[in-house]
Amino acid sequence: MDDFMPNVNDEQLLSLVDDFIQTASSHHSALEAVVGLLASNYKHFNWMGIYIFEDGILKLGPFRGVPSPHVTIPTDKGICGASFREKSTVVIPDVKSDPRYLACSPSTKSEIVVPIFKNGGVVAEIDVDSDYPDAFSEIDKKVLEEVASRLSQLFKKSG
Ligand code: SME
Repeated sequence: MDDFMPNVNDEQLLSLVDDFIQTASSHHSALEAVVGLLASNYKHFNWMGIYIFEDGILKLGPFRGVPSPHVTIPTDKGICGASFREKSTVVIPDVKSDPRYLACSPSTKSEIVVPIFKNGGVVAEIDVDSDYPDAFSEIDKKVLEEVASRLSQLFKKSG
């Protein structure tokens, strides 16, 4: 796990997320800043983005990494759709073994999708891909769920 040493620890990261949310000039720039922070802080976060639920579909918002062919994802498709429907975090240790997986980059080995809730509905998702197999620990899941809970305040009630 040495390779995965973050630049700031998880507690500091959550505090920076709070700062970004309080000080950003818009909700979009807060999301941009948080995506940039997470992507640069964790070596095993090789692609990450926020999918926003809008007009009945998941739409890609701020992201870091190679451009994804999946700029929109129907809620009945992909790991993102599964997380949306299940209203829970989905961790895929080996993307090749999951038939639901929609590929972005051929280098991706594992993925985590964390819903952002507002008033009990999913309004957006944090999606992280890793080039490392089985990259996402219980701690990563907990940190990302904490980030998701903070980002909730940037969204209106689910439509
Ligand atoms: N892998 C996701 C699609 C998004 S791309 O990885 C950026 C999925 O299966 O829903």
